[in-house]
Amino acid sequence: MAHFTKATSLHDWMNQRLGIDTVRRVMATEYWIPKNINFLWAMGMVLAVTFAMLLISGLFLLMYYQPNIHLAFDSVNDVIMRQVPFGWLFRDIHAVAASIVFLVIYIHMLTGIYYGSYKKGREMIWISGMLLYVAFSAEAFSGYMLPWGQLSYWAGTVITDLFSLGSLHAEWLLHWIRGGYTPGQPFLDRFFALHVVLLPLLVIGLIGLHFGALRIPHVNNQEGEEIDFEAEAKKYKSGDKKGSKVIAFANDFMSKDMFVVGVYLIFFFYLVLFHNGFALDPINFIPANPMHTPASVEPEWYFLWSYDILRGFSTNVGLIAFAFAQGIFFVFPFLDRSPNAKPASKRGIFFLWFWILVIDMTGLTIMGKLPPEGMYREVGVMFAYIFIALFIILPFITKFEKKV
Ligand code: HEM
Repeated sequence: MAHFTKATSLHDWMNQRLGIDTVRRVMATEYWIPKNINFLWAMGMVLAVTFAMLLISGLFLLMYYQPNIHLAFDSVNDVIMRQVPFGWLFRDIHAVAASIVFLVIYIHMLTGIYYGSYKKGREMIWISGMLLYVAFSAEAFSGYMLPWGQLSYWAGTVITDLFSLGSLHAEWLLHWIRGGYTPGQPFLDRFFALHVVLLPLLVIGLIGLHFGALRIPHVNNQEGEEIDFEAEAKKYKSGDKKGSKVIAFANDFMSKDMFVVGVYLIFFFYLVLFHNGFALDPINFIPANPMHTPASVEPEWYFLWSYDILRGFSTNVGLIAFAFAQGIFFVFPFLDRSPNAKPASKRGIFFLWFWILVIDMTGLTIMGKLPPEGMYREVGVMFAYIFIALFIILPFITKFEKKV
C-alpha cells in the first residue's frame, strides 16, 4: 500500500490520494509542443470548447424539454423560446454550436491530412478522431429528432429507412431501430436517451482516448520534422527557451491556444446573436405531421457531401457508395503509403490529390443542396465517381512518391 504521511495542505492530501501532481506533469507541464506549428493546431482546443458549450447549453435545454410526442414541439418552440428567460439564447447557442462544430471538425481533419498527422505512430489519434466524427454525427442526428417538428419526423423516417438495407429487405432491423413501424413515442424515447446520455458519454470517453493517443507521439509540426522531444525539453528546462524546438503545453502553448479560442468565441457569439438563422431548418418550426410529407427533406449542410453520394446511384449501389464514403476515412493512415510526413505542398502529386478532394467534397455539398435533376444530378454523380476514384488511386500514387 502507498505510504501516506500527515497532509500539510488540501493539495497535499489530494495529491497523496489522486497523484494530481503526476497527472499535471504528464498531461500539462511536462508535455511538449513543437514551436513550428500554426493557428490550425488550435482547432482541437476550439472543438473541445465548442463541445463544452454544447454540454452546458444542452443541460439548460434539458431542464424544460419534454420527451413526449404531444409535448416536445411546444416545450421547445413555446416554453424554451418564449417563456423561459434567455431560453432562446441557450437554444441558439446549442444550434449554432451543433452546426459550427462540423465546420471546425472538417478544418481539423483536412489539417491532419495536409500535414500527414496520422503517420508514424499517430494512427490512433486519427482513428479516435474518426470515432469522434461518427459520434458527433449520431449526436447531431438524434438531436434533430427531439423538437418533433416536420423535419424531425421525416428526416427520421428517411434516414432510418436506410437500415432496411435496400434489396436485403431488413425490415426487422428498421422496425427494431424505430421501435415500431413508423416513428412514434418509442422512437423519440430512444433518440432522447441516445442524445442526452449515451452519446455524450461516448464523446467524453473518446475525447479522453484522443488526448491520450496524442501524449505518446506528441503533435506533429508544419514540416513533419522528427523532433527529439526529450533532448529539446532538456534544453528548454535548462533555460535555453529560444534554442529549443519545443514549448510546454501549460502554460506556454495553452496561452496561444486560448488566444485563437478567444477570436473564435467572438465569431461564434456574433453568429449566435445576429445570424443564427442558418442553424435551424424552417421546416422544423412546423409540428410533426405523419399525414403530410414536406416538399423537400434534406440533411444539414455537413451531411450533404455523403448524402449526394448516396442519392447519385440506384438504392443498392448508393448504399454501398455511402458506406464506402463513411468508412474510407477510417483507414486513411493505411491508404497513404508514403513514409513522408511532410506537408502536402512538398509531396508533389499528393498536393494535387488533396486539393481535388477539397474541391470535390465542396462540389458534392453544393450539389447535395440542389434538386437531383438534369445537370445537377449528372454533375453530382461525376463528383461521386471522382470521390471514389480518389481513394482508389491514393495507395498507388503515395506508394511511388519520392522520399523528401
Ligand atoms: C470532435 C472532437 C475532437 C476534439 C475535441 C479534438 C481535439 C484535438 C486536440 C486538442 C488536438 C491537439 C491539438 C491540435 O492539433 O489541434 C487534436 C489533434 C489531432 N486530431 Fe483531433 N479532435 C477532435 C476530432 C478529430 C477528428 C474528427 C479527427 C480526424 C479524423 C482528428 C484528428 C486529429 C489528428 C490527426 C491530430 C494530431 C495533429 C497533430 O499531430 O499535429 N480529431 N485533436
